[in-house]
Amino acid sequence: MRLDDLAPRLTLARTPTPLEPLPRLSARLGLELLVKRDDLTGSHLSGNKIRKLEYLLAEARALGATAVVTCGGAQSNHCRATALASAPLGLECALVLRTPRGRAEELEPARGNLLLDRLAGASLRTCTPAEYRAWPSLLEGVADELRARGARPYIIPQGGSNALGSLGYVRAVEELLEQAGDKPPSAVVVATGSGGTLAGVALGLKALGARARAVGVPICDDPASFRRVVLEIAAEAAARFGLPRLTADDFTLLDGYQGRGYALSSEEELALLRETARADGLVLDPVYTVKAFRGLLDRAGSDALPGPRVVFVHTGGIFGLGVAGPPLYGSVVGTP
Ligand SMILES: Cc1ncc(COP(=O)(O)O)c(C=O)c1O
Repeated sequence: MRLDDLAPRLTLARTPTPLEPLPRLSARLGLELLVKRDDLTGSHLSGNKIRKLEYLLAEARALGATAVVTCGGAQSNHCRATALASAPLGLECALVLRTPRGRAEELEPARGNLLLDRLAGASLRTCTPAEYRAWPSLLEGVADELRARGARPYIIPQGGSNALGSLGYVRAVEELLEQAGDKPPSAVVVATGSGGTLAGVALGLKALGARARAVGVPICDDPASFRRVVLEIAAEAAARFGLPRLTADDFTLLDGYQGRGYALSSEEELALLRETARADGLVLDPVYTVKAFRGLLDRAGSDALPGPRVVFVHTGGIFGLGVAGPPLYGSVVGTP
């Protein structure tokens, strides 16, 4: 398989991202733990989403789009990356953001990712969590609106999670295996929020003949729904790009680490943020990576997440760290 022949790609991410050891956490776990620093794919464009957008925005341009439309939570990393990557390409960016009551006032004050959406000039629409369940038709509705005034919109699904976007993680796996050389991983662990990253990792490992287990840790929702989504994306990737067919045996979903739910933190998660920062200087985000890392610590070395060499993909999310603010962190982070 020559990945570069599968689909056109823009160069947006700073790659290869480093693969680094985590010596103190490894000693604690009794296995070798490494981190693939996809939180370093850029500054404002950091995180996993930009790898998917390299393919998605290349297609948008090839189709002659003048605008992109996508959606996510109010503090979506995907929406922020889309807004910031679209601006220099001359693509208008329209975002549908989920807020508790679906009101524009709830986007104030603009902080974190939301502030960056604004800086990039994206237009923002809001919806309630109930309305968001029908996100594909919400995006179609916005696209119709844009078409009515002469724009040519390109719809990007939530999280950039479809077959084309998942190629970003097939490519990341190729990069990782090259870096690992004669010490290949036994498992690759990612936080799972819309499924595309896990689909790409599982597809990449299978396509490249690696024996490592692809492991996703859902940070919201139930594993069964993610299993369905990953298999759908993989089926689309098989049909469109000739990638191998995935079955449910090709990846593992670890259940039980969603905590209080999407973007809600528990004391235990916040304590882990502190612990990893102090152990190996590993700064996680409160919405995705800390939940996934909890699952990793809990299950590393088991059949679901086999040793001896586990790679955690740090998928980014740093802008979420500032949003929770002192009231949330005070009790666990402590004051000097
Ligand atoms: C920081 C971060 N990590 C992990 C994920 C999960 O990736 P995916 O949506 O591809 O499952 C996301 C986005 O949802 C994210 O923003």
